[in-house]
Amino acid sequence: MTYLETTAQFYAEAAEVPQVGLCCVSTPPLQLPGLKIPEIMQQMNYGCGSTVHPTELFGEPTVLYIGVGGGIEALQFAYFCRQPGAVIAVDPVAEMRMAAARNLETAAAENDWFDLDSIKILAGDAFALPVPDQSVDIVAQNCLFNIFEPDDLHRALAEAYRILKPGGRLIMSDPIATCPIPPQLQQDERLRALCLSGALTYDEYIQHLVAMGFGQVEIRARRPYRLLDTYQYSLDTPLLLESLDSVAFKVPLPEDGACIFTGKTAVYAGAESLLDDQAGHLLQRGVPLAICDKTAAKFALQFPQDVMITDSTWHYSGGGCC
Ligand SMILES: C[S@@+](CC[C@H](N)C(=O)[O-])C[C@H]1O[C@@H](n2cnc3c(N)ncnc32)[C@H](O)[C@@H]1O
Repeated sequence: MTYLETTAQFYAEAAEVPQVGLCCVSTPPLQLPGLKIPEIMQQMNYGCGSTVHPTELFGEPTVLYIGVGGGIEALQFAYFCRQPGAVIAVDPVAEMRMAAARNLETAAAENDWFDLDSIKILAGDAFALPVPDQSVDIVAQNCLFNIFEPDDLHRALAEAYRILKPGGRLIMSDPIATCPIPPQLQQDERLRALCLSGALTYDEYIQHLVAMGFGQVEIRARRPYRLLDTYQYSLDTPLLLESLDSVAFKVPLPEDGACIFTGKTAVYAGAESLLDDQAGHLLQRGVPLAICDKTAAKFALQFPQDVMITDSTWHYSGGGCC
């Protein structure tokens, strides 16, 4: 069996018997006014973070959701996208598609505003999404791409890039590893399916996005996810996994490299009231300006005395430079 087949088998089982917290750490689901999330969907919350960020779901976007699971995030997206067929959710596992469809019927009974027509569940996988080129505003996946081996991850990212409209957003939540996971764990197909041993390091993860051509990446959250201990996982030292929520924009790559926003700011502390770096950044003395990591590195060299660079907060949600 290939690791993708092992994964499909694992999720066929997880579709029939909800496995609370087995696959991923279940974060409390995003609650919204008037949204009632059925109990069964909460039990089948197999994500490690969130891909539903209310502030960027303006204008009724169309969403392609990869790996529907119990349907919780498809329902949350449908809250913001209420047109018929606005959310297309794809999953190769028939049992999971059926479970999601059942759960969404329960949600429709519990939520007056929710029309089942707004979500279309389709058979398909991350490597062949059943929609045309440049046809959706958002592609989202939660806790799936970390399972893929690097070549498959590349294929899945290329497919997401293909279907996004220019300016569209790939919204992801995945575990990342604080240091490289040893090969013997990476090759354990069941641990991979459990989202425990396929994780890349932060730098590798971001590099895959940039290599695909995403010109801007924003980090929305980074938190501890799981500890692989020395007893259960035959490791010499414990290895911490984190979950990373990110948004990658299909915008051209700037000539000097991608803009990666991790929550850094620059604060001018010099003698003048304003600092103009002649590259589009205007810093008011004492007022933090959100900057990408590339600009932070440039400022550190250019203005070592006069500009303070604050640490990454790992939470960025707009504003600032670039
Ligand atoms: C860890 S679960 C996450 C489910 C959902 N995103 C959530 O947050 O609850 C992974 C999901 O991806 C589906 N899946 C597995 N292999 C896939 C593939 N190659 N392409 C798309 N989905 C896949 C599984 O059936 C399962 O529904």
